[in-house]
Amino acid sequence: SQVQSKCEDRSLVIQVESMEVPQFEAIDENGSQILKEPLAARCGYTIISNKMATSTTLRASFFSCYTHNQNDVKFTFRFNVRLRTSKGIWETQSISTLCFGPKWAHREVVCEEDYMEATVSDLDSTGLMLYVLFLIQVQSSTKATWQLMFLQGDGHKTFMSIQEAESLGYIVTSSAHRVVLRTDQRSPHAKVMMVHGVPVEVIQVSVVFRRLQMVVLLDLTMRVCWFSDSGEFNGAWLLWDVPWVMLPLVDESAVFESQYVGIRVDGEFLDQNNATSKGLRLVHSGDLVLIAVPFRAEGGYRKSWVVNNTYKEEFGISLLYEHDFSLTYDGSRRINIKHRLLRVLATPPLCHPPFKTLDNDVAFHILLGNIPSDVVLEEVWINKKQVMSGHNSNTIVLVFQYLGGGVVQYSAHLKFTLTIIPQRESYYHHTFVSSRVTNTFPPQIMAQCLHQGICFTIVQASPSLSLWEVGVDHEPLTFELVAQRGYKLHNDSHRMTLEVPIYSIGYRYDDINLFNFYGTFELLLRDSRTLQVQASTSKRCLFKTEDMTVCSSDGTITVITGTKSTRPTVQLKKLHLLDPDCRPKQLDESRALFEFRVNTCGTRPMVGESYVVYENEVIHDRQLITDGPNLISRDSQFNINLQTFSDCFLSG
Ligand SMILES: *[C@@H]1O[C@H](CO)[C@@H](O)[C@H](O)[C@H]1NC(C)=O
Ligand SMILES: *[C@@H]1O[C@H](CO)[C@@H](O)[C@H](O)[C@H]1NC(C)=O
Ligand SMILES: *[C@@H]1O[C@H](CO)[C@@H](O)[C@H](O)[C@H]1NC(C)=O
Ligand SMILES: *[C@@H]1O[C@H](CO)[C@@H](O)[C@H](O)[C@H]1NC(C)=O
Repeated sequence: SQVQSKCEDRSLVIQVESMEVPQFEAIDENGSQILKEPLAARCGYTIISNKMATSTTLRASFFSCYTHNQNDVKFTFRFNVRLRTSKGIWETQSISTLCFGPKWAHREVVCEEDYMEATVSDLDSTGLMLYVLFLIQVQSSTKATWQLMFLQGDGHKTFMSIQEAESLGYIVTSSAHRVVLRTDQRSPHAKVMMVHGVPVEVIQVSVVFRRLQMVVLLDLTMRVCWFSDSGEFNGAWLLWDVPWVMLPLVDESAVFESQYVGIRVDGEFLDQNNATSKGLRLVHSGDLVLIAVPFRAEGGYRKSWVVNNTYKEEFGISLLYEHDFSLTYDGSRRINIKHRLLRVLATPPLCHPPFKTLDNDVAFHILLGNIPSDVVLEEVWINKKQVMSGHNSNTIVLVFQYLGGGVVQYSAHLKFTLTIIPQRESYYHHTFVSSRVTNTFPPQIMAQCLHQGICFTIVQASPSLSLWEVGVDHEPLTFELVAQRGYKLHNDSHRMTLEVPIYSIGYRYDDINLFNFYGTFELLLRDSRTLQVQASTSKRCLFKTEDMTVCSSDGTITVITGTKSTRPTVQLKKLHLLDPDCRPKQLDESRALFEFRVNTCGTRPMVGESYVVYENEVIHDRQLITDGPNLISRDSQFNINLQTFSDCFLSG
């Protein structure tokens, strides 16, 4: 359930899972009391909201103010836990728990996170006799006959009544067998002492009362609790040094003997022998006990922060240090002391981005690991394409670039969006990865002149990589293009043969005369992503001239026409285009060659849907003889329609 309670050996722990901070109400026979500072700490209650703000813990001392204590053995706790629901209504859950006390040491001192508490039993200093006196004192008289005696740093003693002490934040109570003194850490009588180089806060105080001319002194000295620093962090370990001998808890006239030293993490007891099994160190060395907790040890918490879009992480762990020892006076009178220190060790916020990029030649591995539980990965963008949102993932498009010499560089810009819950703060992590792959050569293209065309052989060196695209002009070489333009393509696993017949689209012509001409065809190798031309293979072949109409890239149309089939033979030099001034440029006995630009010689552009047709005519001037009403000619009728498609000019 949302609220859980558990008896520990010296406290009751209530844990409430909720983003809302609950209100705790302690109940005793006289009513209920809301636990707030400073009352809560002075009364032996510690309320901690965990760093992830998802739960709140209440730790109540067995000697806390509102706990029903039966003979220091049975402790009954009653609480109301009040939580505000999302609708703003307070819901109350009642808790009533009975815990059984441990075997108490004669003197116990605990340094809680926000208070110190010392309890001492009657046997502490004067044995059974004292016990009787003490009981009488507590039960029959007012506390006015009691006094607290503070020992100042200079040896000076200050006495004050219990009422006075209470106004300063001290609470003195008694149970069946014990006197309890508690104070929050702001105590004006606390003094800082250096014990083996460790600063500790100490309150030397005794309860004093008089009876039958006898002064009874109960030593309740509390040696306490570290300053608000949170331990030392050396980059890998959180360190905490604790003095081995708890001066002045330890009377110098007594013989000190240690019985147990250990720490508790997450409810688990660890001593010097088995702390390493949890990766922790606990070593008694000289005057100190050295405690070391590795970064991100089990049982700790990880809290994430975003500071100026810098991801930071804090690691902390709550430890309970326990030392049981005995002091023997005069070789016979022995008292047991239990000293406990609760402390949260924490690193400062550290820049610890949970990213790591591992490059290798096949794939990029980007590890996004070790994400604390208060962080969710919401989005991933690679090269401006969202590849993950929520739990959907997508194909990743890498960017590559051919650097020449068989080297291809792959790269990716990545953007991760991580959100820290519950405050829903987003953190954007940008990273750029790149890797060079060698021995990746573009396809090799070889060409060869054929009788009626050009043959290209394309050898794909690395068939798996589609980094390059073979193309004719702007068009990629596809089966559709091949079919449309009348090329012939043979394809097997690593070799393609492309046969391009002369006059098909894509040729350029030059040096045309009546006998032969050159045709040039070019294949381009483009970067298939940027479409930038990386290489080209151009082949120029000599072909035999025949009747043809071709145009060259600069907009020049060349027409070669033969007149062998006409009877009587046409006089070639009488041929002209629509513009009669445009006459053959070359002539032999059977053929004429015209050369003209598309915007000359009366050429008419005919604009179609997606092309322009240029039209002209080769016309034979007939010698016209007047014969009555008829015009007679001995010359042949000769007329050729020329049609030239605009495609011709695209290559220019
Ligand atoms: C409850 O009130 C009565 C009367 O004031 C008092 O004697 C008693 O000690 C109180 N009980 C507790 C647990 O404080
Ligand atoms: C470590 O030893 C203590 C006894 O000193 C024992 O109570 C505890 O369970 C042990 N812990 C582990 C994790 O072994
Ligand atoms: C965030 O960055 C700005 C500009 O660089 C700086 O002025 C500001 O102090 C930074 N804030 C924190 C919390 O670091
Ligand atoms: C050639 O064949 C391969 C495998 O048979 C195929 O993957 C490739 O697309 C083909 N090339 C062309 C231009 O069609």
